[in-house]
Amino acid sequence: MNQNPKRYTITAALPYTNGPVHIGHLAGVYVPSDIYARFQRLQGNDVAFVCGSDEHGVPITIKAKKEGITPQQVVDKYHAIIKQSFEDFGITFDNYSRTSAKVHHDTASEFFKKLYDDGKFVEEVTEQLYDPEANQFLADRFIVGTCPKCGFEESYGDQCENCGTSHNATDLINPKSAISGNTPELKETKHWFLPLDQYEPFLKEWVLKSHKKDWKTNVYGQCKSWIDDGLRPRAVTRDLDWGIPVPVEGAEGKVLYVWFDAPIGYISATKEWAAREGKDWEPYWKSEDTKLLHFIGKDNIVFHCIIFPSMLKADGSYIMPDNVPANEFLNLEGNKISTSKNWAVWLHEYLEEFPNQQDVLRYVLTANAPETKDNDFTWADFQQRNNSELVAIFGNFINRVTVLTHKYYDGVVPAPSSFSEVDQQTLKELKAYPDVIASSIERYRFREAQAELMNVARLGNKYLADEEPWKTIKTDEARTQTVMYVALQIAAALAVLSEPFLPFTSRKLKDILNVTLSGVEGSLSWNSVSTDDTLVPNGHTINKSELLFSKIEDEQVQHQLDKLAASKKANASENTAQATTVTPQKDMIQFDDFTKLDMRVGTILEAEKMPKTKKLLVLKVDTGIDVRTIVSGIAESFTPEEIVGKQVTVLVNLAPRALRGVESQGMILMTENPDGKLVFVNPDTSGVGNGATIN
Ligand code: MF3
Ligand code: ZN
Repeated sequence: MNQNPKRYTITAALPYTNGPVHIGHLAGVYVPSDIYARFQRLQGNDVAFVCGSDEHGVPITIKAKKEGITPQQVVDKYHAIIKQSFEDFGITFDNYSRTSAKVHHDTASEFFKKLYDDGKFVEEVTEQLYDPEANQFLADRFIVGTCPKCGFEESYGDQCENCGTSHNATDLINPKSAISGNTPELKETKHWFLPLDQYEPFLKEWVLKSHKKDWKTNVYGQCKSWIDDGLRPRAVTRDLDWGIPVPVEGAEGKVLYVWFDAPIGYISATKEWAAREGKDWEPYWKSEDTKLLHFIGKDNIVFHCIIFPSMLKADGSYIMPDNVPANEFLNLEGNKISTSKNWAVWLHEYLEEFPNQQDVLRYVLTANAPETKDNDFTWADFQQRNNSELVAIFGNFINRVTVLTHKYYDGVVPAPSSFSEVDQQTLKELKAYPDVIASSIERYRFREAQAELMNVARLGNKYLADEEPWKTIKTDEARTQTVMYVALQIAAALAVLSEPFLPFTSRKLKDILNVTLSGVEGSLSWNSVSTDDTLVPNGHTINKSELLFSKIEDEQVQHQLDKLAASKKANASENTAQATTVTPQKDMIQFDDFTKLDMRVGTILEAEKMPKTKKLLVLKVDTGIDVRTIVSGIAESFTPEEIVGKQVTVLVNLAPRALRGVESQGMILMTENPDGKLVFVNPDTSGVGNGATIN
């Protein structure tokens, strides 16, 4: 037992409740935080592992409008799916709450009120767009208008999807309310700002000085660049009707900014849990001997390392996070995971399609965890890691040990006689693993930790392969008993050490070996693997042998790939419909301007490289009118040989100009494919003769 338990408050980013959870979320946040929480519980530490649904913010209200339901219905739907899938996946939150819960509304309101009363906010009145008919201010995506930069007529208030510029809603030309279609008015509105600039000295000291060594470089680097750029006051309220009402006078129709209320959700979730367990929540957030950890993805770094800490600091009664082990992103089959493009592996679907195979996904996501850089998930790798690692190494070892124990000894652990040099060496090596794995976990290196766990299984396999009990059974009864005894100790160690990573497997293995883990008298603990000479004593009876893992077949992988291909196809047809031209449209011309252009179908007769240039080809082109020389900058996209004989579109009345001393008498029409390769603009001209005009 742990004589000196330490208190841990472990938070996992609250998922937005406008869609289900996918493997990117799992790899970045939920699998590592669960490994960590399970590990600390195994050490006998006092753990509060909290999470919940993030149910406020504009995207949820837009989703609701689109589907013709209320925001509450949107969040109710996804909250249920997410909560259930986490549970089925074995994520052991002590509490999974939600930000629409009363306890959260109360907690967040009180938090704001205290800062307000203490004069921690700056109040400012600015002019914002307002829809008198809908009776609401138009934030971000509630407004559509002409982009001041490119002229695209359906730009959003915060960003133009045509040219990518971000702007203020008030910059739009001819803005229209996305709700009523009306032209909005300008109306003054008051908001509350957290003056982050005032927290700069604190952040410099706390983040840049104290955590230079122990925070991950990706996290530290982002914080440093934000702080070095200079922090500015940030509005913590919005004119919206979905969220937590701003709890002060003169703030009717305003809610807390979603990034103000959501992290307070960690505190509310802890409160809710403590009340249920009959505990006091405060030490988990206010006692200096508590270790507070935020598990998040990299897009959340600024909120957890700068803004939320400044909020906690402004309050003054809270501890700071000890670490914020943020991960990078996981891609899927080489592409960015995207909810809107349905380019994802959804957890609730995985659980249905791979029943009882939670640990396979947990294993693969940890093995590929994007700990220091973005990483890729592929179904081929998923299959490979299952079949040649979990099945062939871990599963195979356990299967051999348990099957042989039944075969030779009716399931009873045999008594060892004298240990050979190899036996002693093997048992010694085994005893080192708990510390090795623990040290990796304590440093948030979960891939490394899990790789060491697999080395325990490898140790077992090698031991059996070298000592060959299936041979000695015919010649040396005593030796065989010793070998099987040692192998059974390794199997028991695996049951213990796999618990944080592969909890379902650990459970199964404990059942097979008929052992229990931690707590109860006579049970195994993490440290017993290091300290005890015997994990399963001779005379102990194990249960029926059972396969821990099963092969993933090619058809299963193909089915998943087919699903992704279908998403890709659906997106492609949607995209062509939207024709994503990125170059802004040029100024209007009159019909007469167009008719001045003389474009013809022509054929390239000859092509050669212009000496001493990289880009230019000198072409002889039959335009139907004549055969002329055209110098074209296409040498990086085509070899001369491949274009001879090609029918192309030629602008023939372009004034001649000399390029490197060669007179070019026209221009060939080209465009560019997404890879930057030039492509001839070629209407289907088969059967059309040279000289045919284009108009
Ligand atoms: N919902 C946010 C996201 O998915 C994370 C919120 S984390 C919290 O990016 F701290 F605000 F809770
Ligand atoms: Zn634009």
